[in-house]
Amino acid sequence: MGLISTVFIVSAQKTPIYKDKKAPIESRIKDLISRMTLDEKILQLNQFTVGYNTNVNNEGGVIKEIPIGIGSLIYFGTDPVYRNEIQRNAIEKSRLGIPILFGFDVIHGFRAVYPIALAQACSWNPDLVKSASEMAARETKLSGIDWTFSPMIDVVRDPRWGRVAESYGEDSYTNAIFGVAAVNGYQGKSLSDRFSIAACLKHFVGYGESEGGRDYHATDVSAQSLWETYLPPFEACVNAGAATVMSGFNDISGVPATANHYTLTEVLKRRWKHDGFVVSDWSAIRQLMFQGVAGSRKDTGFKAFMAGVEMDMADSIYLENLKILVNEKKVPVKNIDDAVSRVLRVKFRLGLFDNPYTPIVSENERYLSTESRQVTEQLAEESMVLLKNSNNTLPISSSVKQIALIGPMAADKKNLLGSWSYNGREDDVESIIEGIEKEFGKTATISYAKGCDFDGNDESGFSDAIEAAKKSDIILLCLGEKKDWSGENASRSSIALPTIQEKMAVELKKTGKPIVLVLSNGRPLELVRLEPIADAILEIWQPGIAGGSPLAGILSGRINPSGKLSMTFPLTTGQIPTYYNSRPKARPYPTNGIYQDIPTNPLYWMGYGLSYTSYKYSAMTISSSKIKRNEKLIAEVEVENTGKIAGLETVNWYISDPVCTISRPIKELKYFEKKEIVAGGKVKYRFEIEPMRDLSYTNSEGKRFLEAGEYFVMVNDQKVKFEIIE
Ligand code: BGC
Repeated sequence: MGLISTVFIVSAQKTPIYKDKKAPIESRIKDLISRMTLDEKILQLNQFTVGYNTNVNNEGGVIKEIPIGIGSLIYFGTDPVYRNEIQRNAIEKSRLGIPILFGFDVIHGFRAVYPIALAQACSWNPDLVKSASEMAARETKLSGIDWTFSPMIDVVRDPRWGRVAESYGEDSYTNAIFGVAAVNGYQGKSLSDRFSIAACLKHFVGYGESEGGRDYHATDVSAQSLWETYLPPFEACVNAGAATVMSGFNDISGVPATANHYTLTEVLKRRWKHDGFVVSDWSAIRQLMFQGVAGSRKDTGFKAFMAGVEMDMADSIYLENLKILVNEKKVPVKNIDDAVSRVLRVKFRLGLFDNPYTPIVSENERYLSTESRQVTEQLAEESMVLLKNSNNTLPISSSVKQIALIGPMAADKKNLLGSWSYNGREDDVESIIEGIEKEFGKTATISYAKGCDFDGNDESGFSDAIEAAKKSDIILLCLGEKKDWSGENASRSSIALPTIQEKMAVELKKTGKPIVLVLSNGRPLELVRLEPIADAILEIWQPGIAGGSPLAGILSGRINPSGKLSMTFPLTTGQIPTYYNSRPKARPYPTNGIYQDIPTNPLYWMGYGLSYTSYKYSAMTISSSKIKRNEKLIAEVEVENTGKIAGLETVNWYISDPVCTISRPIKELKYFEKKEIVAGGKVKYRFEIEPMRDLSYTNSEGKRFLEAGEYFVMVNDQKVKFEIIE
C-alpha cells in the first residue's frame, strides 16, 4: 500500500511590507511603489483644497471633488472629525490605503496667534520662537493638520514688499537661526511624535528680492547674491531636517524658481541631499506661462516636474499631463518614482501610515492652553522695540493721573493679529485699551478717543481726541497699519502711515502734552514726520492675541523692553533699499554718494532698540591676534548693567573682511546672544570664531573659501583686528 500523504499548504495572507510598522521606511517605500499603478503614483503628486479657501490671493481656488487617492489636501477647517472622515475614505476605500497629507498655512500660530515673524526676530530669542512653534504645532495637529507651510525664510530688504512681515528680517544669518528654531519647534524630536508637524521652507528661493517691493514680480537675483544671501537660511534649515520645501513665484536670473533645475535639483537635492519633497507655491506651475518660459499647461508641468517640483499645489496640471508626458517618453518613470518616494517618505516619517487619524479632543483641550498663552505673551513682550525715549518719558511716572488713549489702533483687536492668522479670533485678542486699563486702571483715569480711522480723510474725530489730550498728563497715540496692508499681495508705494494719522499727531502735538507713539504695523515705517512729534516711540508690531499686557507693562515699567530691530527703518521711502550689510561704496568720503535732499543714513538700523537700563561694554578681548585657518579665536566682552533695574541684553557679533577676492559686506552678523543682567551686574559674552564657519565666504557657485589676511571682529561700537596666517 502506497503511503498517501496530504500536504497542506498554509497560505497565510502576508502583511505587505509597506504596512509593516517595524520595517525600515525605505523598504516600505520601495514595496509600496512596486505595487502602485502610474495613475496612483501621479495622484500622490497633487494637492487640492478641501473646504472653503480662505486665502484671497489663491486665485482660481475652486473647490474640486477630491480624488480618493490624492496625495495632499489643504485643509482650511479646524474640525478633526471631518478630516478623519476624508482620511478614512482614503485608507479604507482606495486600493492601497495610502493616507492623505493635510497641510495648511500656520504662519504665526494657529488659534493662539503669536507675533508676526518680523517681530519674533526682534526678540533675538530663538528658544522662545521654538517654543511658540511647538505650541502652534500642537494646536495644528489636534485640528487634523500634519504639515504647515512655514517658516518663511526669505531675506527681505524692501519694506514696500508686504511679505516682509512673514520673514525674520534683512539678515541671512538671523533668518537661518530663527528658521531652524521654527523647524525644530514644529517637527519636535521626531516627525512621528504625537504633536509634531512637518515644516515647509519657503519660498525657494530669492522671492525676497521682489523688484520695487511689488509682489509676484520678477526678481533679479545674481548667482552671487543667491549664494551669499538667499540660500544660506535654506541650507541651515535643510540641515536641521526640514521635511519639505516650497518653490517660489519669483525668478532667478531669468529662470523661474518653480522651473529652476539648478536650485531645486542640483543644489537642494544633490548638494544638500534633501530627501523630502518640493511643493509648488499656489498656482506657481501654471504661472510659468505668464512668466514666459512655457507655452501651454502641459509645458509648465513638464518644466516644473523635470526641474524638481514633486507636488503640484492646486493647479491639477500634473494630474492632467504627467501620464501623457510619461507615455510620450518625455518624463521617465524613474523620475516619477523618485518624486513619489519623496512624498511617501514624508508621510511615513510623520507616522501617517501607522496612525492616520487625529485623536478627537474638545476645543478646550485643543486650543489656547495656559502654556501657549504664556509663550505668546512673552514673545510679544520680547519683540516690542523701544525706538525713542526722550527725557525718560517712559516708563510712565506714577504721578500721572490722566491718560489719553488715542488712535485707530487703541481699541482695535482684529489688526493686532497680523496677516496670515486665519484661525485667530478677535475675541481672543487683548487690545491695547484692555491692557492699559488692567495696568493703569486703578491709578489713573483713561480717556479714550479714536480720533480718526487708519486711512481716509475724516477729521471729525480730531476734536474729541484733542479734548481728551488736553485733560491728560500724557498721550498714548496708537497708530499703525491694518493687518491686510502687509502679507501676501500687499505692496505699498510708500511706507509712511496715511496722512490722516500723521495729521492727527500734528494736532495733538499742539496741546503741548507728552506723546508716546505706539505703533502696530507689519513692516518698517517711514517716521520722518512722526518721530519729531513723539517724545517716546514703542514699536509693538502685530503682536497676536496677547499684546495688550506686554505693551502696558512696558509703559508702566513693569517690563524692561529688550527687543531690537530685525529690519532697518529707512528715514524715507526713497532710501529703500537700505540694509546694514551692504557692500562698501567706491568713494568712502563723507560727501560722496549721499542724498542731496535728505540724510543718507536710515532712522534706525537693524539691531537698534532701547532699554530702561544702561549697559557699559568693556573693551573686547581676543584670544590671539593671529590664527591659522584651523584654529579657533575667542572674542569676549563683559557687559555691565549700570542702571537700576535688571535687563535682557542682546549682543550681536559681526565680522568684517576688508580685503577679499570678492568684495564683502561692510559687516556681517555671525552670532548673537541674549542674556539677563541684574542691576549692577556684569555678564560675559563670548563668540567662538571658527574660521571656516564664520570667516569664509562663498563664490557665485557656492564654493566656500577662506583667505589669509586681516579680519575684524565687531561688537557694539568696537572693532578689533586679527589675522589669518598661511
Ligand atoms: C503663498 C504661500 C502659501 C500658499 C498656500 C500662496 O499664495 O505664496 O506662502 O503657503 O499660498 O496658501
